[in-house]
Amino acid sequence: MAGEVILIVEDNDVLRHGLEALLQSEGYVAVTAAHGHEALDKMANHVPDLILSDISMPEMDGYQFYEQVRSREAWMSIPFIFLTARRGRDEIFAGKRMGVEDYLVKPVTRKELTTTIRSRLARNQQLLYVQLQQAYASSLIMLANAIELRDQGTRNHVERVRDIALLIGRQVGWKDEQLRDLEYGSILHDVGKIHIPESVLKKPSKLNEEEWELMHRHPLIGVEIVKEIQYLVAAIPVIRSHHERWDGSGYPDGLRGEDIPFAARIVAVADSVDAMCATRPYQQGVAPDVAYQQILAESGRLYDPLVVEAFKAAWPAILERLRQDAA
Ligand SMILES: [Fe+2]
Ligand SMILES: [Fe+2]
Repeated sequence: MAGEVILIVEDNDVLRHGLEALLQSEGYVAVTAAHGHEALDKMANHVPDLILSDISMPEMDGYQFYEQVRSREAWMSIPFIFLTARRGRDEIFAGKRMGVEDYLVKPVTRKELTTTIRSRLARNQQLLYVQLQQAYASSLIMLANAIELRDQGTRNHVERVRDIALLIGRQVGWKDEQLRDLEYGSILHDVGKIHIPESVLKKPSKLNEEEWELMHRHPLIGVEIVKEIQYLVAAIPVIRSHHERWDGSGYPDGLRGEDIPFAARIVAVADSVDAMCATRPYQQGVAPDVAYQQILAESGRLYDPLVVEAFKAAWPAILERLRQDAA
């Protein structure tokens, strides 16, 4: 990808200009500095996507510069490549010990340089992407837990449903993106409960008709809550349809069989098994084995037989997960 900013720190004028021209011809934006101090000044204005630095320089050498860069949180993840004429093993060892990712020994070929830069940038993109995903997931869990807290007796329900759903998802062969959507969906499945009064959520006796109707609206309310958020749109099928049942007896749309989104059929099983085990104001939780048998007994009636098969295969891992919280 072109347009990334590369900071070149090199005291040799000829080499610095040469590198600048080379990187520009490859489509990068090159920013240059003759030593560490100058480089730090430049970084105050342009945070580079990657740093290419000589070691031996006046004023502030490469190692001191490296330490300065790594001491700031905002700069910690910038890929850093040392460019050096020295071949001494001690030097390279010193750099490695400091955590320097790459070492290019001058004279370096164009191909060597561009390949190293490209792979470093790509790796960094992947890391940032993963970090971002994790940050999203943790904020979602925080939100979902805040909602679940209002629902007495369901502590950690969200995490358990997510973990159980992912175990089933992997069992049916799902990968990356599908698992991620399933994760967001399972975390947020009950987000619509935020609109249900605590007096209903925590009612120790059976709900009356009006209260049931209110409770049954949580999938659609959940859809309303997330529909404007681009990266959560894929969670909508789970939020909307996790109470649909294979035989058409569920809500809110009364979908049946394969008309129910697959991810929602998975979360239906994960949510049900956890709900059966949970002790709530109106219900004493059952033992995991009892819940397991109940899911199996309802295969082809309430639950998708294919999902139940995967649930069965993943049961040892699911049981272990359920016991983690019980302990
Ligand atoms: Fe629900
Ligand atoms: Fe739930």
